[in-house]
Amino acid sequence: MKVLTSPAAARQAVDALSDRGVTTGLVPTMGAIHRGHLSLVQAARQENEVVMASIFVNPIQFNNPDDLARYPRTLEADLEKLKAAGCDLVFVPEARDMYPQQPLTQFAFGPLDEVMEGAYRPGHFSGVALVVLKLFHILRPQKAYFGQKDLQQFKIIERLVKDTSLPVTLRMLPIVREHSGLALSSRNQRLSGEGKQVAARIFQALQKAALELTTSRNITRSVAAAQQHLAASPGIEVEYLTWVNTDDLQPVERISNHDQLALCFAGYVEGVRLIDNIIVDIHADRSS
Ligand code: PAF
Repeated sequence: MKVLTSPAAARQAVDALSDRGVTTGLVPTMGAIHRGHLSLVQAARQENEVVMASIFVNPIQFNNPDDLARYPRTLEADLEKLKAAGCDLVFVPEARDMYPQQPLTQFAFGPLDEVMEGAYRPGHFSGVALVVLKLFHILRPQKAYFGQKDLQQFKIIERLVKDTSLPVTLRMLPIVREHSGLALSSRNQRLSGEGKQVAARIFQALQKAALELTTSRNITRSVAAAQQHLAASPGIEVEYLTWVNTDDLQPVERISNHDQLALCFAGYVEGVRLIDNIIVDIHADRSS
């Protein structure tokens, strides 16, 4: 597995691949690799001749300096996991090479980032969009892989790719969970054992809400079911809990005319910010 740190070296390696006409898939990450990332690598392995990953804790997508400082950094272990999963090339740039000067380019995604993460983390998606665009320009993958846990991020990158006519196909893969139901996240490393047990109730709440929605078809009752479960769990501080339609991420109050809805959660356990979601296909009465 090749590990490249400079954008110029990465470009050169990618030029050589494109001269040979090989298909490439990219898994962009901020490191602290877990089974969620590895499921993306596995999917990329099945669909491409060469699998690339990037590890870069992107400073400009953190609106909270403390969150950036505490973000787990486990490079050695990450590289071992990526190698074992069949990654061929890992790009690990330094911030000074990605941003030789403070970037001035900003993105606004209108209604897509006025809700949920966009509302609570101003500037976050602008920073995500810029780094993803740079990674796509440097590594020029044909396909790129993201997790459903960051549903809003995926929808925004999808829009970015459409608006800028980038020749990359995006794939969103299901959330990978602990046995307890807790969605895998690099941030889980900061939770105690007890904190992890408490946090597992988040997915239980989402499942209760999904069940209530498919039986009563009533958004208010569904949210109430989740809220009740969360309220019975001291230690979970809810930031938002919102049903949105998966096309434009706008909050929904009734389920008519919507094919697919997602219940999105953000909140804190032991001071660690966690997000999760569950998607319900209204017509098929299925959730994921
Ligand atoms: O989802 C992440 O890990 C990051 O937001 C991404 C897409 C790698 C951009 O920094």
